[in-house]
Amino acid sequence: MGNQKLTKEINRRRTFAIISHPDAGKTTLTEKLLLYGGAIQVAGAVKSNKIKKTATSDWMEIERQRGISVATSVMGFEYNNLNINILDTPGHQDFAEDTFRTLTAVDSVIVVIDVAKGVEPQTEKLVKVCRMRKTPIIVFINKLDRPGKDGFELLDEVEQKLDLKITPLSWPINMGPEFKGVYNIFDESLYLFEPGKQRIEEGISISNLHDPELDDYLDEDAQMLREELDLIKGVYPAFDRQQYLDGTICPVFFGSALNNFGVKELLDCFIRIAPTPIGRQAEERKILPEEENFSGFVFKIHANMDPNHRDRIAFVRIVSGRFERNKPYHHVRLGRSLKFSNPTAFMAQKKSIVDEAFPGDIVGLYDSGNFKIGDTLTEGELLHYKGIPSFSPELFRYVENADPMKSKQLAKGLDQLMDEGVAQLFTGKATGRKIIGTVGALQFEVIQYRLLHEYGASCRYEPITLYKTAWITSENKAMLNDFKARKASFLAFDKEGRDVFLADSPYALQTSMEKYPDIKFHFTSEF
Ligand code: G4P
Repeated sequence: MGNQKLTKEINRRRTFAIISHPDAGKTTLTEKLLLYGGAIQVAGAVKSNKIKKTATSDWMEIERQRGISVATSVMGFEYNNLNINILDTPGHQDFAEDTFRTLTAVDSVIVVIDVAKGVEPQTEKLVKVCRMRKTPIIVFINKLDRPGKDGFELLDEVEQKLDLKITPLSWPINMGPEFKGVYNIFDESLYLFEPGKQRIEEGISISNLHDPELDDYLDEDAQMLREELDLIKGVYPAFDRQQYLDGTICPVFFGSALNNFGVKELLDCFIRIAPTPIGRQAEERKILPEEENFSGFVFKIHANMDPNHRDRIAFVRIVSGRFERNKPYHHVRLGRSLKFSNPTAFMAQKKSIVDEAFPGDIVGLYDSGNFKIGDTLTEGELLHYKGIPSFSPELFRYVENADPMKSKQLAKGLDQLMDEGVAQLFTGKATGRKIIGTVGALQFEVIQYRLLHEYGASCRYEPITLYKTAWITSENKAMLNDFKARKASFLAFDKEGRDVFLADSPYALQTSMEKYPDIKFHFTSEF
């Protein structure tokens, strides 16, 4: 294939995620964007995917929704001749790790903030991950049709709590019942709001703010708008696309997703400024999308919900080159060649088999257990993509076999669920007992339920006093051996056989770190 075609395909793609604290409006915004792309015809179509703030007892609902979420894991649509992929991220905080991993597969994010609630904890956590990765961020302040915080106050809060440098690209004219619309700084036009009207029409171009036309539309609010925009000009830096792409400045938009207000402007700006698929750093070297040879990595694995088919879907982000159906690719970890006869692309609600895919695309590969999260596929080069860490879990329980006849099934089930990244499994060195570590309480129930329904295995949990786990390494072998000898009953190994220290209290962790300065205690699996 000519390089020109590859470059053209790369330039046509935008792959991003929408992140927010639950209830800020992520699902509503996603839906409105899909409506513009013609990917769905009715509002409410994505809604069903949502894992609401479900109480653990109500988690059967999650199981039901998990089935739907295969289809909505990636929502592709075409807009202005561009292929746009929105990667869905679970809102429930117990699945935060899923979200972190999904963020490795996108090139930019849109952060949705509720105008009344401001910056909430989940947003803070997620944005921190984006900042670490220098992911370009656009902020969308939502629900302007409701009373909320003062615009300037909110921008301060965004800057401080999210530690972002921002520049407003639109500005609201009042909010709540008085909400009149937004002035779009980016394209210098005025968008007037009418409650309850789902609007898609164009804005009114007003590049000269002293134009009396502004007074005609806004009456006494025109002067206020002029003053506020003056203030913005004085306080915030002008928008600079390169700084946005570098992750050092974040444009901010205001609107109301529910009323479809400010969404088109957001989308139109997004397609102009958002990055085309960018390369990724592998352990060995940096890989650029334009490279002729295909490479990609698995960032998500989803069990197939059909009980007659035990297979799973591995979601691969294509980093470079062209992916082709039925062509053999090298599975680097297994050192084996694999072919995929039914690679799947996701267009909103629909799945379809694709013959080829390009950087920025996500393909779903049917898998019978070959993949785990972080695996790399190439045309032969031994590359290992980085940046898909597991975090040190926060909640722990012993897992015991509750049905002696099904120990094989339990081992297999646990193994596969861990590959999916549902939780982490440690084995106590002294006891051989298995410990499951998760980031949220819900996962324990998910694991128990899925072991039973997908693998026919029963497990029960027993409490363990455990504060944190840390992977341990050291150049100082003597010190490491001494530590291991003294802490024998607090040692475990992970699925890869790496040493893990089980700290039963913050004190135990801290004193160990102080006493053994040459030992490195790692809290993410990538070190
Ligand atoms: P999430 O995915 O971030 O969790 O949020 P979601 O889109 O589900 O929105 C959460 C709630 O906020 C929903 O109401 C939704 O209708 C509402 N919402 C979203 N955008 C706006 C907006 O611009 N203005 C106003 N006023 N509300 C908005 P809900 O009652 O929880 O759900 P539903 O019963 O309406 O489905």
